[in-house]
Amino acid sequence: MPNLAQIAIAARAHAHAPYSNFRVGAALETSTGEIYTGCNVENSTYGLTICAERVAVVKAISEGARPASFVRIAIAADTPTLTPPCGACRQILAEFAPGAVITLVNLAGLSKSYTIADLLPESFNDSFLR
Ligand code: THU
Repeated sequence: MPNLAQIAIAARAHAHAPYSNFRVGAALETSTGEIYTGCNVENSTYGLTICAERVAVVKAISEGARPASFVRIAIAADTPTLTPPCGACRQILAEFAPGAVITLVNLAGLSKSYTIADLLPESFNDSFLR
């Protein structure tokens, strides 16, 4: 059984990245062991590009996974140093996977884990809407 990092690396293969040639994969695991993968999906208008992390979250939610159930997400890219998630993905992870351990990995076996509080301190959240 491959580990979550290996699953994220494998998910890169499906990336649609003809404009940047920068392939990213993500694998999101729930507390009951379900795994949802994502890859970046680019668009010729550039701005409509969707990152791998958001694809994984949206796939999971649309298939019935509960946000509070997300325990881990691995994010894989082929860079010598680890590729950090963009600001938009940090906000999405803060909303949908606030308790998850977020692990960045590269193809050389380097990895580092974070909480969302590490990556997006003082974030906006639904408590401000009340
Ligand atoms: N990308 C991701 O999928 N996730 C990240 O964490 C960083 C960037 C994608 C978006 C775009 O398709 C390409 O990488 C270059 O920015």
